[in-house]
Amino acid sequence: MFAQLEEIHRRPKPFEAYTAADLWTDAYISGRMLAFHLNGEIDLASRKLPFIDRSAGWIISRFGIREGKSVADFGCGPGLYTQRLAATRAAVTGIDFSANSLEYAEARAREAHLPIRYVRRNYLEFETDETYDLILMIFCDYCALSPEQRKILLEKFRHLLKPGGSILMDLCQMNAFRRKAESADFAPNLMENFWSPESYYGFRNTFRYEDARVTLDKYTIVEKRRTRVMYNWLQYFDRESIAAELAESGLTIEEYLGNAAGDPFDAGADEFAAVAKRR
Ligand SMILES: C[S@@+](CC[C@H](N)C(=O)[O-])C[C@H]1O[C@@H](n2cnc3c(N)ncnc32)[C@H](O)[C@@H]1O
Repeated sequence: MFAQLEEIHRRPKPFEAYTAADLWTDAYISGRMLAFHLNGEIDLASRKLPFIDRSAGWIISRFGIREGKSVADFGCGPGLYTQRLAATRAAVTGIDFSANSLEYAEARAREAHLPIRYVRRNYLEFETDETYDLILMIFCDYCALSPEQRKILLEKFRHLLKPGGSILMDLCQMNAFRRKAESADFAPNLMENFWSPESYYGFRNTFRYEDARVTLDKYTIVEKRRTRVMYNWLQYFDRESIAAELAESGLTIEEYLGNAAGDPFDAGADEFAAVAKRR
């Protein structure tokens, strides 16, 4: 028991394990996630609906999204953005590995007679001959990836951009990092059966990596027949660090914003957004 508890409380190296697929594609957990996406009143999985409406409206006008333009939404979830952007008659592709979310997105697109192309795939492995006027990655998904994965993704983005095309991504900002404290807690059915419909014992260990500017919420879920460990990493940026990272992949930042709805940049906020282009 002591050795098991030691393992539960062990601090892994930053980005040592990638378990996003367990979170987003497990039939039960992704169902819980879809319910969060579709709950327009909470900022979990997707942002609140009034924000998404405002954000989609701003994206359409800022990037001139209309018939003849093409958009790719990486990590599109249940299509809250793709649906709104496709209503302009732009050609929209959504990439996501959650079957639950894409089935929902496809059903909504059929109902609205919108020819959105949904691709069920790990976006790090997404291949296509298409190129795009706009690439989106929204709700800080970029921050959940390791430096190596981010490099793969940026190379892909650069390759997939049309001449003059833009990338819009939102990011966790350093203020949020400073506030995040290390902690350890335990509860039966931690997070109200979020992890399983069966009984379980859940441990949550939060680690900070000062130099790397990374945090980890590590969940150890102990069920009768299995024990799972889930890693939720977050990388935090400031304007300088994201500019340097993008520059390494031949991209340059055109504009810093407060969020993906075009609000002004705020150095005191938890998040910010960047519009990038090929250099
Ligand atoms: C935080 S949600 C944001 C959804 C959407 N962008 C929004 O704002 O409504 C992240 C989405 O990215 C997807 N995702 C995460 N990692 C992925 C990966 N490696 N490949 C494909 N999809 C991924 C998840 O399934 C989930 O739908």
